[in-house]
Amino acid sequence: MFEVEKVKKDFPFLQQKIHGKPVVFLDSGASAQKPACVINAIADSYTNNYANVHRGVYTLSDQATEKYEATRKKVQAFIHAEHLEEVIFTKGTTEAINLVAFSLLENYFNEGDEIIITEMEHHANIVPWQLIAKQKKLTLKYIPVTDDGDLDLEKLSKLVSDRTKMLALTHCSNVLGTINPVKEIIDQVKAKYNLAVLIDGAQSVVHQRIDVAALNCDFYVFSSHKLYGPTGVGVLYAKKKWHDVMTPYQGGGDMIKEVSMHEATFADAPYKFEAGTPDIVGVIGLSKAIEYIEKLGFASIQSHEKVLLDYATQRLSQIKGLRIIGQSESKAAIITFIIEGFHANDLGMLLDLSGVCVRTGHHCAQPLLKRFNVPSTVRASFGVYNTLEDIDLLVKGLEKAMKMLS
Ligand code: ALA
Repeated sequence: MFEVEKVKKDFPFLQQKIHGKPVVFLDSGASAQKPACVINAIADSYTNNYANVHRGVYTLSDQATEKYEATRKKVQAFIHAEHLEEVIFTKGTTEAINLVAFSLLENYFNEGDEIIITEMEHHANIVPWQLIAKQKKLTLKYIPVTDDGDLDLEKLSKLVSDRTKMLALTHCSNVLGTINPVKEIIDQVKAKYNLAVLIDGAQSVVHQRIDVAALNCDFYVFSSHKLYGPTGVGVLYAKKKWHDVMTPYQGGGDMIKEVSMHEATFADAPYKFEAGTPDIVGVIGLSKAIEYIEKLGFASIQSHEKVLLDYATQRLSQIKGLRIIGQSESKAAIITFIIEGFHANDLGMLLDLSGVCVRTGHHCAQPLLKRFNVPSTVRASFGVYNTLEDIDLLVKGLEKAMKMLS
């Protein structure tokens, strides 16, 4: 039994009022709120355990290092990575994808190679590939999206070839909510071709259990801040076989073996890819967030979010002129919509006055919005703390906004 009212009490942010109204937070897809246990772990770290990691010989530095490295172990178990060194800490999903793209540029990609992405990618899984494509004359190809918001996988077999070196796709669309059948896709392409597969798990890791070993992906990336953890931390899972192919993404302290005046040799992974002082406390906070999620359990989270998605879909569909963008059978609790005759930003601003927080705009997915011929949309994305009442308040807020704008 998922006790949402009890869960909601774990989140101090949600106890406040905005414009005199209780906060209805429907923007977890952008960044989720943090439970008190994560906030307390951060405060405790700064209060009692703060020192740089991997550097000192004193007890307090050792303690900070232990907690930091314990999080790596926790992430390894959380995503089921085979080797500890396959877990690399980054600033977030965006940095993780950039790291993969630029680290593979020197030894892996050759002029004329092809990269396949999809029409439903976030800019973070488009622009890094565009940048390296320009540098090495690579070709970028897109798997199209159907009207329902699924990947048109019949096209994949025509796009992939011996020239394809990378397939990078999202596990769950941040706009459509579509959960892509990544396991089937990976099995299909790897049965015939020798290519790398990167999965953008920014939206999916919070809704379902991830098993990178079973997926057989080469890279899996996600952010802590969508997982009820702190901002500024992300995870790159990079399968061991790539570690020597990848050159360092950034140079600095902690990523070297030895430095002379004109040369350097590099540490082994994961440190080779973790230059500079990391977000020590953020990483420790991520550990608490994972503990929190594990305690709630993915089975309960998923069934709660399914109830929210079904109820929101049904209630929103009753609003005249409202069109949901993304009607896949396989969806996470994310609903993006437009209402004929109303601008998404106006609706978002008026919802704010009702205490309802939603994201409006292009959601960093301009090619996708263009595909659906919509310039701007409203998105409600749900988290573990959302209730059916939140959805009623969203609908009430929309009706009020539409009345005011008419
Ligand atoms: N990628 C985040 C979103 O979809 C910021 O809102």
